[in-house]
Amino acid sequence: MTTSTTFLGLGAMGSALAAAALDAGRPAVVWNRTPGRAGFLGRRGATIAETVEEAIAGDGVILVCLLDHQSVRAVIDPVAASLAKRTLVNLTTTTPNQARGLAAWATEHNITYLDGAIMAVPRMIGRPGAAILYSGPEAAFEENRELLDLWGRSEYFGADPGMASLRDMAMLVGMYTMFAGFLHGAAMVGSEGVSATEFARQQVPFLTAMTGQLAGLAAVVDAGDYAGAGQQSLEFTETALDSLVTASLDQGVNVEVLRPVHDLVRRQLAAGYGRQGTARIFEELRKAR
Ligand SMILES: NC(=O)c1ccc[n+]([C@@H]2O[C@H](COP(=O)([O-])OP(=O)(O)OC[C@H]3O[C@@H](n4cnc5c(N)ncnc54)[C@H](OP(=O)(O)O)[C@@H]3O)[C@@H](O)[C@H]2O)c1
Repeated sequence: MTTSTTFLGLGAMGSALAAAALDAGRPAVVWNRTPGRAGFLGRRGATIAETVEEAIAGDGVILVCLLDHQSVRAVIDPVAASLAKRTLVNLTTTTPNQARGLAAWATEHNITYLDGAIMAVPRMIGRPGAAILYSGPEAAFEENRELLDLWGRSEYFGADPGMASLRDMAMLVGMYTMFAGFLHGAAMVGSEGVSATEFARQQVPFLTAMTGQLAGLAAVVDAGDYAGAGQQSLEFTETALDSLVTASLDQGVNVEVLRPVHDLVRRQLAAGYGRQGTARIFEELRKAR
């Protein structure tokens, strides 16, 4: 018989993970801080635990999906001794250093710790398009593939427990800055009465086409060859951004999203790199370290 998986946290995501396991015929024990969120999982066959202690009483994998790092510590610290020799998979969003801290805590308590980062929204879990990134002990990843693969494509990023989170957060930077850029554009056309919905219809295919530029930028960055032929120069980009800032201000639109990009480019120009490629912004960004 398959060992029960324990699910700690039944928010939107934790519930989706537990539901996918149950739908695949795997037994599950579920717990949530606020009682009453497990009803539909109970009807699908889950065992509902009243306490964390009760939830972790078995010997299967313990899957944690809570709000944040602090809530994870609040739930697992008090039961650390009971988790010895168990495997904990944490799919809560944490920073890389929080993941490393949890891994160190787990080692102290003789717990096997696999960190994960979910690249999906709850309704995508168990469907094509969902991916979950993992890092930590490779053996723990491989031994639990059957379970992990129920939720989406499982991708492993090495023994450093912070790597899944680092990849996740780097991806989310791209997403959030894109969202902010879209909303800025929507505010610009909105100042003349164009709806955001209409603008989105125009923006989506353009941004989709522009993602085709990323591989070229990446190749320049990896080669460190910002003087190579065929690149859009920082000078050209500065002129474009200057117009975008002016046009935004003329329409009464806040430039707090755009200004930092313009400033990055201007600093590169001031340092004498105007003829080099725009991918050189990368050098300005990584300098913060
Ligand atoms: N939803 C998404 O689209 C998505 C996508 C990728 C990753 N994630 C990540 O998945 C994790 C869970 O997200 P979610 O969407 O399920 O969030 P959610 O619906 O807000 O659920 C949060 C869960 O955390 C619990 N919780 C919060 N503080 C707690 C504490 N101090 N002690 C014990 N339990 C606590 C809540 O319990 P109560 O019911 O008692 O409040 C609830 O079970 C987050 O780290 C999120 O970043 C979510």
